[in-house]
Amino acid sequence: MTYYENIVETANYIKKYFNEPIDYAVVLGSGITLELEEQQELGYEAIPLFPGNKRSNHVKGHANKLTFGKISGKNVLVLNGRLHYYEGYKMKEVAFMTYVVKFLGAKGLFITNACGAINTNFTEGDIVCLDDFISLVSNNPLMGENDPRLGERFVDMTTPFNPYLVDNLLSSAEKLDIKLHRGVYGFFQGPYFETRAEIQAFKTMGCDLVGMSTVPEVIAANHAGLPVAVLACATNMATGIQKKKHDHEHVLKTAQKISVNLKNLLIETLKNLD
Ligand code: HPA
Repeated sequence: MTYYENIVETANYIKKYFNEPIDYAVVLGSGITLELEEQQELGYEAIPLFPGNKRSNHVKGHANKLTFGKISGKNVLVLNGRLHYYEGYKMKEVAFMTYVVKFLGAKGLFITNACGAINTNFTEGDIVCLDDFISLVSNNPLMGENDPRLGERFVDMTTPFNPYLVDNLLSSAEKLDIKLHRGVYGFFQGPYFETRAEIQAFKTMGCDLVGMSTVPEVIAANHAGLPVAVLACATNMATGIQKKKHDHEHVLKTAQKISVNLKNLLIETLKNLD
């Protein structure tokens, strides 16, 4: 079966399982949690063609399941845990669920992640609505043959993040008095945390944040014509900017704390979306 056929079949499988249309989807980053009303679950291992279904040694902080339920009256599908390029998955495997979300008929995708802050106007615990990204990885999910049923060969990236979703996030944050920054995310392959020199180089390039995920899904969403916005959670300052060493447990703990504001932000935003 082709990549396209696997995507369509997986979308049909999920559609049949939850048996209701999906309005929006959310990807949860490391340590971030989101409970839904009337929540149903589907473990990744039960999805026959999903590339992550045999993931035994998954990254701590990722629950490996789909949940489906309601937020503010909207039907929301949540990907509790993503596949990362640093785990050894191919870029097309990392992007697989993004296309599935498109074929499920979602009107938009909210991606969250845990990342390090380079910009010193940000502090640990801050949320940043991405304005742009810089890929520091020389591979992406569009490499190789293009299937026109998924999207165009050459994808415009003038506005990678959907203005309608972003504007709604910004006005919701203002209403809730949640500080929501704007910034540029640098996608680093990992899985080691960057060196001090790398962070200085990325700062010079214009990165406000650095992390090991998100960009493959954003590229796929733009390819598929799926509106996307990203809420990046600064769980720590980047290497050399913070004086302490990195610690994944600390990343998870901070992400868990940020989850409260993230949830409130999504509740308010989804209230106002079509
Ligand atoms: N760098 C890369 N990825 C991350 C970081 C970081 O400092 N923190 C959380 N994810």
